[in-house]
Amino acid sequence: MEISERAAQLTPSLTLSIDSKAKAMKAEGIDVCGFGAGEPDFDTPEHIKKAAIEALETGFTKYTPSAGIPELRQAIAEKLAADNELSYRAAQIIVSNGAKHSCYNAILATCQPGDEVIIPAPYWVAMTPSTKMLIMNSPSNPTGSVYTREELQAIVDVAAEEDIYILSDEIYEKLVYDDAKHVSIGSLSNEAYDLTITVNGFSKTYAMTGWRLGYLAAPEAVAKAVDSIQSHTTSNPSSFSQYGALAALRGDQQPVADMREEFDMRRNYMFDRLSKISNVTAVKPQGAFYVLVNISQLGLTSQNFADRLLSKASVAVVPGAAFGDDRTIRLSYAASLDIIKKGLDRFQDFCRTL
Ligand SMILES: Cc1ncc(COP(=O)(O)O)c(C=O)c1O
Repeated sequence: MEISERAAQLTPSLTLSIDSKAKAMKAEGIDVCGFGAGEPDFDTPEHIKKAAIEALETGFTKYTPSAGIPELRQAIAEKLAADNELSYRAAQIIVSNGAKHSCYNAILATCQPGDEVIIPAPYWVAMTPSTKMLIMNSPSNPTGSVYTREELQAIVDVAAEEDIYILSDEIYEKLVYDDAKHVSIGSLSNEAYDLTITVNGFSKTYAMTGWRLGYLAAPEAVAKAVDSIQSHTTSNPSSFSQYGALAALRGDQQPVADMREEFDMRRNYMFDRLSKISNVTAVKPQGAFYVLVNISQLGLTSQNFADRLLSKASVAVVPGAAFGDDRTIRLSYAASLDIIKKGLDRFQDFCRTL
């Protein structure tokens, strides 16, 4: 069979492939320190798991409306109003199989062949007359940077002038540190609201990566288009996952605060250690759970560095090439402090050998 041009252009996600390489080494009994993961190492809070189990036990095992169960869409609308100063009706919210799926649906619903979509992190790409959409991700993967209200306003000004849509992926919104504050770009003005599709999900905030649940909130016409696409492709997201998500939004938020605090402690530790290693530099992240480390003084491409670090020191990191920046590697601190300590000892020794 012939592979389509579209599929032939794709290579597998580099972040996921490093993670599976590290997991395979672990399965062989090798003591790997994994800094590649893009997922919280915590278990899903108990009350969320309980709600999903209850849903299974009471027979919520059938198809749901393709856009998600009404209670969850309503709870998301209330969450967006309370946390994000965003006023959406439940009809404007579509629940999907993860934030990644919501991003995919949003682009499919709004962009035509030939339209350009630009991604500003970690680099800026210039806009052209074909630019249709700007993807924003604050707090950012991989830089950990958090845009201020003023910076977001400047982006809205340009987007409004050029009539460019904004896809705002806010999946790390609850993981912000020090004085950083998460601001939803769609909340800045009516103009911003009309141009923005807000994407969020449950994976990072509630340690629910495997549940595959995310959502978007958009102008009603876009939400309707996304619902149509979804109804013909994946149908509804998993029924019992949706009941878990409902419990996540309606239930105790203390586990979210506890996880954030633990991430903050690890962030400080990791950054302090990295600051003491010669020939590498990093900017202290204000959000998410990643540190982007500049290794350009060590004379290797990011892919070579990551491969050698994994084979020689059993430390898994993601090469910056995966994010368009070959000078860097990404370290995730979604790992226990013991693993972070051990991994950074090895990382430091490895850097000395270069
Ligand atoms: C910026 C960003 N958006 C979305 C996702 C994926 O989220 P989900 O698990 O809800 O698909 C990730 C995962 O790493 C991410 O970093």
